[in-house]
Amino acid sequence: MTTKLLLLAAFPVLALPFVHPFGPVRQEHSSAPLPGDAAVTALLERACQNCHSERTEWPRYSYLPLVSWALEKDVAEARQNMNFSHWDQYSVDDKKDLLARIGTEVRNHQMPLPRYLMLHPEARLSDADIQVIYEWTKAERRALRNTRE
Ligand code: HEC
Repeated sequence: MTTKLLLLAAFPVLALPFVHPFGPVRQEHSSAPLPGDAAVTALLERACQNCHSERTEWPRYSYLPLVSWALEKDVAEARQNMNFSHWDQYSVDDKKDLLARIGTEVRNHQMPLPRYLMLHPEARLSDADIQVIYEWTKAERRALRNTRE
């Protein structure tokens, strides 16, 4: 009897990792390459792709109850704001807008999210890295200014 009750009480907790209030973010996969030339793509892969693309690598700790929700929420929000896996599908205006935002966020050290860097030191960008990304956003915006949709 007590065992049954215990099992009953434990069930909701055990089921937590199978509940995904922020949608099926873990099921979305894409092998589409991230934008940029080789140097920029490498930086975006290292510092942004886990949140802003469908090439997320989910670490073991991401399956812990509650932690999993916090991370799925970040990834869902990040992809809503900007999803590198669908870069080609953005309009010219959207791309220009996103490029401007990328430059600002990176230069102000707002992205990658500081709390992410605690667990992912490999995603930290040096000043030189930031400059490479910023120069790329400027060059891309210049190129897009001459593009008609
Ligand atoms: C830990 C996950 C995570 C990582 C890694 C990350 N981002 Fe974000 N990003 C978010 C979330 C969540 C939002 C939406 C909420 C916000 O703006 O803080 C966001 C928003 C953005 C926005 C839109 C901001 C706005 O207000 O317009 C841009 C641009 C952006 N990120 C760029 C980047 C770039 C570039 C990188 C890599 C250098 C990066 N992010 C890395 C989670 C992440």
